[in-house]
Amino acid sequence: MKKPWAGRFKEETAGSVEEFTESISFDWRLWPHDIEGSIAHARMLARQGIISGSDADKIITALREIASELESGRFRFRKDLEDIHMNIEAALIRKIGPLGGKLHTARSRNDQVALDLRLYLRAEAAGLVGMIKRLQRILLRLAQKHAETIMPGYTHLQRAQPVTLGHHLLAYVEMLQRDKERLLDSLKRIDTLPLGACALAGTTLPVDRAYVARLLKFKRVAANSMDAVSDRDFVLEFLALGAILMVHLSRMAEELVLWSTEEFSFIELPDAFTTGSSIMPQKKNPDVAELIRGKVGRVYGSLVALLTTMKALPLSYNRDMQEDKLPLFDTVDTLKSVMGVLTDMLPRVKFNRKRMKETAAGGYALATDLAEYLVGKGLPFREAHEVTGRVVGYAIERGAELHELTLDELRGFSPLIGPDVFDLLTVEKAVTRRKSGGGTAPEEVRRQVERLRKAL
Ligand code: ARG
Repeated sequence: MKKPWAGRFKEETAGSVEEFTESISFDWRLWPHDIEGSIAHARMLARQGIISGSDADKIITALREIASELESGRFRFRKDLEDIHMNIEAALIRKIGPLGGKLHTARSRNDQVALDLRLYLRAEAAGLVGMIKRLQRILLRLAQKHAETIMPGYTHLQRAQPVTLGHHLLAYVEMLQRDKERLLDSLKRIDTLPLGACALAGTTLPVDRAYVARLLKFKRVAANSMDAVSDRDFVLEFLALGAILMVHLSRMAEELVLWSTEEFSFIELPDAFTTGSSIMPQKKNPDVAELIRGKVGRVYGSLVALLTTMKALPLSYNRDMQEDKLPLFDTVDTLKSVMGVLTDMLPRVKFNRKRMKETAAGGYALATDLAEYLVGKGLPFREAHEVTGRVVGYAIERGAELHELTLDELRGFSPLIGPDVFDLLTVEKAVTRRKSGGGTAPEEVRRQVERLRKAL
């Protein structure tokens, strides 16, 4: 098939080159945006008198027919036509003849592909914002339900202080809140119309870019045509924020893996979201959570891949940039599937409150409470820390928990300790008394749930 650009060529493109340079096998999914952009472009050309109104009408009608062929799967993609842009243009010319060739007036695939990508990402980013919100709502519901569920809080994966499960879950709501903000912020920069930049330098024809921007609902028009066709910052930004979002989801996934072990036994994952072993009949494996953790690799990989592709590219468009699509599409697909499966699974996770609470009490997790008790009695914190440390050392030797020591034993370390200390040495007190802003107390957790619910 003759290429739309074949004029100056004497030889046909080598088969291996067609295979090597094509992008239709993956950029076909840009078709709805390509059509949308072309319709707006045709309307602008007619409005500016660059083509006639009736030509534009014919072009637009044919583009709509092509869209319905694409929609229904009747459209045949051709690799020898390289990409989605030339596939659609060739179909247009097949339908309405040379008149179809007017559509590409004052346009280049360089600004066209930048436009398609922006339209695609604008829609996908908005969808992802919705998915993040859904996940946040599920976490909020769980946090509300478990505002009083006591569990061990960890630092260094060593038991640190008792916390409430609601508090722990709200930490993820906060992370997701930042992810959402980053996504919304990136939308501001996606929202720029590159069309009209043409190949790189603009055009001699009297185009109206602001009109196209209005039709396609872009807030801004790219100010510099060379930047417009060279810029993939918006893709890089998306990959970067996607990588950070995956950091958060992988941390949650890791905790689901850990908590579902026999050793922790904090949760039971729903059967429908686990898999068995082909050899060990007793196994119930947290594959979903593991795969969420595992898929982080490809998202980081995509970010690094595109950063590397874009590095040191001379202005303006270079074919290297065609390599932006696979990492972008893969990241969008990965994020959507991860968020989707997590949203399905989380409401069905069973939390073992009894086990969590029992575990929270052990490991001298109330030592800080004893130290703060001594501070309340007027001891400087450093000394209180030292005294409590000695009490813990003593208790370890005795094989006893702090509340199991007698008042006399405790007073041996500090005369400031009175019988009221025993009221405080319980996990319930440890959490309910931590009502400082953002703290773990059920009362505070409920307040945070309310605040976040309003923010959503
Ligand atoms: N398929 C190309 C891409 O994805 C479209 C732009 C091609 N432009 C060009 N001058 N070869 O980047």
